[in-house]
Amino acid sequence: MENLNEWFKGAQRERFAIGHFNVSNLEAVKGIVEAAKAVRAPVIIGVSEGEREFFGVPQIVAVVRAFREESGLPIFLNADHTKSFEKVKEAVDAGFDSVHFDGSELPYEKNVEATRRAVEYVRSTRPGISVEGELGYLRGSSKVQEVVEIKAEDMTDPDEAWDFVQRTGVDRLAPVFGNIHGIVTKQEEKLDIGRLKRIREKTDAFLVLHGASGLSEEDIRAAIEAGIVKVHINTELRVAYRSTLEKTLKAMPKETTPYKYLEPEVESVAKVVEEKIRLFGSAGRA
Ligand code: G3H
Ligand code: ZN
Repeated sequence: MENLNEWFKGAQRERFAIGHFNVSNLEAVKGIVEAAKAVRAPVIIGVSEGEREFFGVPQIVAVVRAFREESGLPIFLNADHTKSFEKVKEAVDAGFDSVHFDGSELPYEKNVEATRRAVEYVRSTRPGISVEGELGYLRGSSKVQEVVEIKAEDMTDPDEAWDFVQRTGVDRLAPVFGNIHGIVTKQEEKLDIGRLKRIREKTDAFLVLHGASGLSEEDIRAAIEAGIVKVHINTELRVAYRSTLEKTLKAMPKETTPYKYLEPEVESVAKVVEEKIRLFGSAGRA
């Protein structure tokens, strides 16, 4: 099977994006795989440090591998927002297909240094793994918030993006251009597509859109048209899961069999994922 970087090359050439969907539990994985099967799409399953601690590192590797083998689909596993070298090493050694080293909270030079160290470890141990770095300050977190203030200095500078990619050797870059993590209820989320285009002109690295929950379809389409090849969705899946769970428990207050009251949650995740896959243009690609 083609590795993830080969898939990104195809996505860059044909202007579609691969969906990256975060999970905390098995029901979410099942929902994502169900959607990928229904529309024959490549997908990336992501776990942040907190999510993988809850799921278990060898456990998520084994689960994703089992679904990939059973389905024959390109289903990849990413170590999302990994903030230390030790956690990068743990994910690489455990068998992840992809690592996102997130040094965006560090001063610029420290971010370059730490990201380069992560890249060097991957290249010297499992060179087929795709590595992502992050530049700019991506505010918010994957939950429902009222307002998330974005400052001009949070945004990724295109010249710095060029320097960062050259010096770290990353395959992918996660820039900040108006995106935030989570959904906001008292503010409109709006991307700065002009800035994304300027970043694209400066680098050939695969570009990643984090924080896509709550963005308009129009903005997401424009971002893919401008060169985004991976789109991250977490909060919308969490909201679908949680609200379906509340409804289901209300509708079956005496039900104690988990596979009966957890099936609707799997379906709710599958529904969101399928809609996103279609929007990203990756349906029918696998
Ligand atoms: O890495 C995870 C994503 O960037 C999730 O962002 O919660 O806004 O969908 P989101
Ligand atoms: Zn993210």
